[in-house]
Amino acid sequence: MDVIIDFISNIPWWGWILVFLFIVAIRDIFIQRSHTISHNFPIIGHLRYLFESIGPEMRQYFVANNREELPFNRIERGWIYASAKKENNYEGFGTDRDIYAHQHIFINNAMMPFQLPDHHPHHEDKTFLPCAKVMGLYHKRKRPFRPASIINVSAMSFGSLSAKAIESLNKGVQISGAYHNTGEGGLSAYHSHGGDVIFHFGTGYFGVRSQDGGFSLEKLVKLVAENPFIRAIEVKLSQGAKPGKGGVLPGKKITKEIAEIRGVAIGKDVLSPPNHKAFSNVPEMVDFIEKIADATGLPVGIKAAIGKLEQWEELANIMASTGKGPDFITIDGGEGGTGAAPPSFADHVSLPWVYGFSDIYKLFQSKNLSERIVFIGSGKLGFPAKAAMAFAMGVDCINVAREAMMSIGCIQAQICHTNRCPAGVATQSKWLQSGIDPTLKSERLAQYFKTFRKELIEISHAAGYEHPCQFKMSDIEMNVDDHNLSKELHRTYNYEKTQVAFNGMQNLKDCLYLGNYPQLTQNKNH
Ligand SMILES: Cc1cc2nc3c(=O)[nH]c(=O)nc-3n(C[C@H](O)[C@H](O)[C@H](O)COP(=O)(O)O)c2cc1C
Repeated sequence: MDVIIDFISNIPWWGWILVFLFIVAIRDIFIQRSHTISHNFPIIGHLRYLFESIGPEMRQYFVANNREELPFNRIERGWIYASAKKENNYEGFGTDRDIYAHQHIFINNAMMPFQLPDHHPHHEDKTFLPCAKVMGLYHKRKRPFRPASIINVSAMSFGSLSAKAIESLNKGVQISGAYHNTGEGGLSAYHSHGGDVIFHFGTGYFGVRSQDGGFSLEKLVKLVAENPFIRAIEVKLSQGAKPGKGGVLPGKKITKEIAEIRGVAIGKDVLSPPNHKAFSNVPEMVDFIEKIADATGLPVGIKAAIGKLEQWEELANIMASTGKGPDFITIDGGEGGTGAAPPSFADHVSLPWVYGFSDIYKLFQSKNLSERIVFIGSGKLGFPAKAAMAFAMGVDCINVAREAMMSIGCIQAQICHTNRCPAGVATQSKWLQSGIDPTLKSERLAQYFKTFRKELIEISHAAGYEHPCQFKMSDIEMNVDDHNLSKELHRTYNYEKTQVAFNGMQNLKDCLYLGNYPQLTQNKNH
């Protein structure tokens, strides 16, 4: 025995390494069966798996150039981080973009910018930028709603995002006067910190679900009555990252809290089918919208990604002939984000935002419906110049999801579907989300929204306008090669936006239906 102990204690450190590598080699060749590479190249084959696993981070930090990455490149992410932290978000020395590149967007500036008159609301608050249209006014809903901010938090559920992230977003919209869309997971306590809320549901009817998995109007009416900060309701038909795709919420993810909020059983798999049970065709959908609007008094809208247009045409015809239908329409681009989706859906199903939106706007405009609908756009529009283009095309508000996530610390790790989000934003792990301080992060979201609005206002002024709703298609050009060949948007997409009735910022400020804008509430209280 002593001899063995003596022998073992005399093995040098490198001897132990050799023993370890020998055991790994035996395992690679004779025991494991799942990896051909490590069988054929024992030990060194493992380097391939290591490099493959750290490759994305290496490329993101060291290799990719500033404008190279997708969905958001380093310059875009940096702009959001700096804006959210109120740091210097300028760039020096001039643009690093090839502004002669194909599809580059130009905003035509005026010879002399818009000049603020005396007593303009912007003398008090340079970031005040409410929506120029009121949701639900045309259809005479009992509680019309003018969003107090043109940039808002897009649908992301409690479940896909952490409790701390939802709380940060809700407190952030409260500070900045924006609204918070709940996403499909129902209304939670984390959505109830004072911000305006748009209650959103899909085919799972979470939060307003009957025993048999259908839609319960009674539950929705009760929810709205108990939570007056719910200002509108959005029915999800589809989203850009996975249109027409249902989903399964695995039983093991359904904790007591999630079960209560969503109105489902603890621990049992829950199916969100591709189709709604509450309606099966367009006329039924319009009836469903009207029923909800009548029962709750709130504006009701739909959210969808765009592909075929036949059913949209049917909707527009019904709206034109009956005077009924959605108060707002949210158009999501195929480039939109998600908590989880198959790549074949995320990459290929549904049109990119610009193509989808222009198709829909043109269609509704051709039936004289564009003035009575509030158009909301989502799909990487959380940057002021892109938003200016979207306004020129006809949107009235912007919804942002991933940009909002980044403002509260998301690092674009792109692993929302694994529950291992390192920033604690898209995970249910208590440990990972414990690093989020909702008070600090809510300030960051609010600051990002304020900076965004301030820059969009400045761009509008540079083009000679007071509000971005005044942008016309002819104000924006898209490069197709040379300036003499570059085309204004109306010539590229073959429509001219219907001008929004806008009578000055003061008018919006005095509006009875204006959403919760904290600075105004404070002033009223004084
Ligand atoms: C984590 C996550 C969760 C989402 N959850 C929903 C959802 O519940 N319902 C929905 O309609 N869209 C959902 N979306 C899509 C967003 O609301 C938005 O439409 C899309 O990401 C485009 O906006 P963006 O480019 O600013 O991210 C989700 C997106 C993300 C990133």
